[in-house]
Amino acid sequence: MKQTNVKPADGKLGILIVGCGAVSTTMMTGVLMARKGLTKLIGSMTQMDKMRVGRGTDKKYLKYSDIVPLARLDDIVFGTWDVYPQNAYQAAMYAQVLQEKDIAPVRHELEQIVPMKAAFDKNYAKRLDGDNVKTCSSRWDMMEQIRADIRRFRDENGCSRIVVLWAASTEIYVPVDEQYHYTLAALEAAMKADDREHVAPSMCYAYAALTEGCPFIMGAPNTTVDIPAMWELAEKTRMPICGKDFKTGQTLVKSGFAPIIGTRCLGLDGWFSTNILGNRDGLVLDEPANFHTKEVSKLSTLETILKGDDQPDLYGDYYHKVRINYYPPRNDNKESWDNIDIKGWMGYPMQIKINFLCRDSILAAPVALDLCLLSDLAARAGRYGIQRFLSFFLKSPMHDYTSGEEAVNHLYQQYTLLKNAIREMGGYEADEEID
Ligand SMILES: NC(=O)c1ccc[n+]([C@@H]2O[C@H](COP(=O)([O-])OP(=O)(O)OC[C@H]3O[C@@H](n4cnc5c(N)ncnc54)[C@H](O)[C@@H]3O)[C@@H](O)[C@H]2O)c1
Repeated sequence: MKQTNVKPADGKLGILIVGCGAVSTTMMTGVLMARKGLTKLIGSMTQMDKMRVGRGTDKKYLKYSDIVPLARLDDIVFGTWDVYPQNAYQAAMYAQVLQEKDIAPVRHELEQIVPMKAAFDKNYAKRLDGDNVKTCSSRWDMMEQIRADIRRFRDENGCSRIVVLWAASTEIYVPVDEQYHYTLAALEAAMKADDREHVAPSMCYAYAALTEGCPFIMGAPNTTVDIPAMWELAEKTRMPICGKDFKTGQTLVKSGFAPIIGTRCLGLDGWFSTNILGNRDGLVLDEPANFHTKEVSKLSTLETILKGDDQPDLYGDYYHKVRINYYPPRNDNKESWDNIDIKGWMGYPMQIKINFLCRDSILAAPVALDLCLLSDLAARAGRYGIQRFLSFFLKSPMHDYTSGEEAVNHLYQQYTLLKNAIREMGGYEADEEID
C-alpha cells in the first residue's frame, strides 16, 4: 500500500445499527460467518472488487484493502437498537432470510447482540407494535438518550471508532420544511420544543451519532440527513453522512439499464415498475404514508439519467410509475416487474420486460457493510459532509438541492465516482480511463 494521509484503521470499529431486522441480521450473520471462514461475502465491493490504479504500464488491479486502510472484519463489533427486544439470533430466525444451517455456527455471537431500547414514535410506523422503546420527554431528550447509548457501547466494547447505520423501517414521509430543516439552530429549537411533526426519530439518531463523532448512514428513504440543518451539523462535527435508501433490486437494475436506452438514443414513453414482497419491510410500506417515502426515492432515479430537458424528443414526456405490494407468501424474496415502453427509428414502439426474482436482504447486506466500512474510511481520511462517492450504493443519492445540484444516478458514473475516491484516498490520481 502507498503512503496515504488516511489515518490507520487501528482498534475496534463499532457498527451500531438502528433496526435489528432482515437487512441488519443478514449483514451481521454474513460478517460473523466470514470471520470463521464459513462463507464468502459475495456482492460486497470492499471484500470482492478489484479496481485499477495507475495507468499504462504502471496499471495494476487491486482489492480496496490493498489501496486504502479499511477496517478488518475481525475488528468489527456490532450493536443495535430495535422496537422489539429479540436478540440478533432470534431476529435472524424470524426474518427467514437465511437458513438455520447458515446461522447456527454463529448463534452464540448473535445471541450476545441484544437490541437497546428504540427511539421510536408509533406515528412514524403505525404497523409496528413492539414495546422495547425509550420513554422520552422530548425529541431533544430522545437524542440525548441515544448519545448516552453510543457512549456506553463505545466504553463497554473498547471501540476506537463507531459508525451508525439506519437499517430500520421506512418512516412516514417528512417533507423538507425550510422553517424547521434549513438551519441547525431551527432544527435544535424544534427538538427542544418537542416538535414531533418535523423531527422524526431518525433525526434524533443522526444528530446523536454526528455529535458523538460517528458517521451516519441512512439506508431507508427517510428525509433524516437530507436537510441543510444536518449538512451543517456534519460540517460542524466534521463527520461524513450519506443516504438515502440502499440501492439493491429493482432500482439497481433500473440505474444500470436506463443508460442502455440513453446511450443508444432510443426514446422512452413509459416505465412501469411493480413489486411484491412479504417481509416486515413490506408490511410497513403497505401503509400509504410510509410507501410515499419509498415512492419518492424510487422515482428519482430515471429523471437524472434520461433527461427531458436535454433530449425533449426522446425523454420529454414519459410516464414513470412505481408500485410496491405487500404479499406475505413471498416474505423476503421480492419479485419485481418492469415494463418499459421504448421507441425507435421513426417513432416505432417496442417493449422490454424485466422480471427480477431477487432476495431483498441478500442484496442489501453487502451494500450495508460497504457503506459502513467506506464511511469509516472517509472519516479517517478527513472527509465530511455529504459523501457523493457513495451514491453507487444508494437509490436516492444525497446532493445539495438548495444550489440546484443534481444527484448522480447513472450506475457507471457512480462507479467512477467510487473508484476515484478510493484512488485519491489511496494516494493515486483520479482518472476516467476505461477498464
Ligand atoms: N432489503 C432491501 O433490499 C432494502 C433496500 C432499500 C432499503 N431498505 C430499507 O432498509 C430498511 C430495513 O429493511 P428490513 O427488510 O431489514 O426491514 P425489517 O422490517 O426487517 O427491519 C426493520 C427493523 O427496524 C425496527 N425499527 C423501526 N423503527 C425503529 C426505530 N425508530 N428504532 C429502532 N428500530 C426501529 C423494526 O422493529 C424492525 O425490526 C427499511 O427501511 C427498508 O425500506 C431495504
